[in-house]
Amino acid sequence: MCGIVGVVGNPNATDILLQGLEKLEYRGYDSAGIYVSNGAESGRLVKANGRIADLEAKVSGQLAGFAGIGHTRWATHGKPSELNAHPHQSESGRLVMVHNGVIENYAEIRATYLENHHFQGQTDTEIAVHLVGHFVEAESLSVLEAFKKALNIIEGSYAFALMDTENPEVLYVAKNKSPLLIGLGDGYNLVGSDAMAMIRETSDFKEIHDKELVIVEKDQVTIMDYAGNTVERDSYTAELDLSDIGKGTYPYYMLKEIDEQPTVMRKLISTYADADGQMQVDPAIVQAVQEADRLYIIAAGTSYNAGFASKKMLEELTERPVELGIASEWGYEMPLLSQKPLFIFLTQSGETADSRQVLVKANEMGIPSLTVTNVPGSTLSREATYTLLLHAGPEIAVASTKAYTAQIAALAFLAKAVGEANGNAKAEAFDLVHELSLVAQSIEASLSEKDLVDSKVRKLLGTTRNAFYIGRGQDYYVAMEASLKLKEISYIQCEGFAAGELKHGTISLIEDGVPVIALLSANEKVAAHTRGNIAEVQARGAHVLTIVEEGVAHEDDDIVVNQVHPYLSSIAMVIPTQLIAYFATLHRGLDVDKPRNLAKSVTVE
Ligand code: G6P
Repeated sequence: MCGIVGVVGNPNATDILLQGLEKLEYRGYDSAGIYVSNGAESGRLVKANGRIADLEAKVSGQLAGFAGIGHTRWATHGKPSELNAHPHQSESGRLVMVHNGVIENYAEIRATYLENHHFQGQTDTEIAVHLVGHFVEAESLSVLEAFKKALNIIEGSYAFALMDTENPEVLYVAKNKSPLLIGLGDGYNLVGSDAMAMIRETSDFKEIHDKELVIVEKDQVTIMDYAGNTVERDSYTAELDLSDIGKGTYPYYMLKEIDEQPTVMRKLISTYADADGQMQVDPAIVQAVQEADRLYIIAAGTSYNAGFASKKMLEELTERPVELGIASEWGYEMPLLSQKPLFIFLTQSGETADSRQVLVKANEMGIPSLTVTNVPGSTLSREATYTLLLHAGPEIAVASTKAYTAQIAALAFLAKAVGEANGNAKAEAFDLVHELSLVAQSIEASLSEKDLVDSKVRKLLGTTRNAFYIGRGQDYYVAMEASLKLKEISYIQCEGFAAGELKHGTISLIEDGVPVIALLSANEKVAAHTRGNIAEVQARGAHVLTIVEEGVAHEDDDIVVNQVHPYLSSIAMVIPTQLIAYFATLHRGLDVDKPRNLAKSVTVE
C-alpha cells in the first residue's frame, strides 16, 4: 500500500528517498514519485508509472538536493498513472505534498473552497494540497497556519508530508489513522510511513499520534496538536535488522521466507523458553489471559486464518472460549461481548487499518488488548495494552508465509504458559519445546521435497482456472489459508472448503479435471471421513492431490508430511501448500513477490 519517505538536512536526499522507497516496495504499489530541493525554488518533481526502477531511470543521477519527499502509490482514487502519482502540487505549484490514506470529504472540499482550481488528476490528495495552497494564497496565511486550517477541515485517514518550494528547510507532516513516524538522523531528520524506509539512516524514532502536526527541520522536530499546543515526546529505538532485508541468492523473497521457517521456529523456542524448557512469556500477558473469560482474536487475511488454526489449542490449554473476528467487519459492528473480554490482535505488520480501527474502539471501551505482531514499535503494538513478538524477521513478500507459522507457534507458547499457570493437565503434558523442534524438522523434510511439489503442481495446476482445497477440523483451517495463498499470487480461483460441507452445494462445481487438493493430518477418524469426500469428488472427475501426515498416509498419497503434535499440525501441513502456491505462480510466469492489486501492509480501511 502507499508509502511515504521524506528527509531534510542531508545532501544525499535523492538517494535517501529512492532507497527508502525501495524498502517500501514490498508493501505493494503501482507508481512512484519524488520531489527534491536544493534551496528556495530550485526543486524538481519526478514521477513514474510502474516500478521504482522506472523512477530511478528518469532521475538518472541528475537530481541533487538536501531535502525532499517521496511516495509509492497504491491507487484508491483514480487509476494508476503518472498524473495521479504523488507528489502533488498546489494551484500555483508552490506547495508539494504526498499522502497516504483516504480523504472522505474531498468532494465537499472541492465544491466549497476550490471551485476555480485546475486539477491534473483524480486523486483526493490533489484536493488536500490545493486546499492548503488556497489558504496560503487567498488568505495570506503562513504555510503552517494554512496546513493547520486545512487539517481541521479534512476528514478521513491520512499521513501527509508537505513542502514549501520557497522554504525547503522544513517538512510539515500530520497524520490521522494512517501510519507515520519521524526518524532522527545525525544532523538531519526523516519521516516515513514505515521504519523500514528509514532504517538505513537511523534506528531512533519518534512516534506521531493521530491528529498531530509535526514541523521537521534538520536539527529539530516540533510536535503539536491541531490547536497549536506543543507536545513533548521521547524517542525510541527500533530493533529492526537491516541484514535480514536482503534477498540473498534467492530469486524471490517468498521462497526465502518459506525456507526460513525452521529457523523461525527455533528462534521462538530460544525466545519464549529457557534452557530447561520453562516458558518465558511476559507474566503480565499470562495474567491478562487468566483474567479474561473469553478471548477474541481479531485479524485480517492470513493472520485471520492463523487465528483459526490456533483456536482449539488456545481453548484447550487456556480453558477459555476463543472467538474469531474479521477486523473489517468488527470495525463497524461488534458482537455481544462477554463480561471480561481480552482482544488479541493477530497482525504480521502491526499496521493493518482494519485491525487498528477495532483496537481504537477497544481502547475507548476499556477492553484490555494484546497485539501479536512481527513488527516491534508498529502502531498496533504501541497502542495495545500488551505485545507478543513473532521474531520471524522482516517478511517482504506480499504473500505471508513465515508470519503465519510464527503466529501459531507464538500463540502455542502463550497457551502453554497460561495453561501451566492454571494447572491445566494438558498444558503440563504438552512438551512444546520438544514438539516445536519436531515441527522444525518436519518443515525441513517438506522443504527438501521441492522438486516433487514442483512436478505435481505442473501437472495439476498448469492450465486450470480454478481449484479446491478440502479438509476437516484443523485441516479445514489450513485449507482456508492454502487457498488464499494460491489465489493471491497465482490468480487461480480457489476455495478452501470444509470437506464434509462440499456435498451441500459446492460439489456441483466438480467436473472432469477440476483440481482438488485434500489435506489429511494424523487424526484417524477425521482422515477416514475426508477419504470419503475424496472418493466423492473423484467419482465426479476431479483430479485429486493428497497432502497427508505420515500416521494416516497410504501408499498412493502424493505428498507425505512428517507427523507433529496435533496442536501444531497446521504448521507442518501448510508448508507444501505454500510451495504449491509458489510453483503454480512461477509456472505462470508471474511475479511471485508482487501480485497485482495487493499490498503487504493495508493501511486503509
Ligand atoms: C494484507 C496482506 C495479507 C495479510 C493481511 C493482514 O491483505 O496482503 O497477506 O494477511 O493484509 O495483514 P497483517 O499485517 O495484519 O497480518
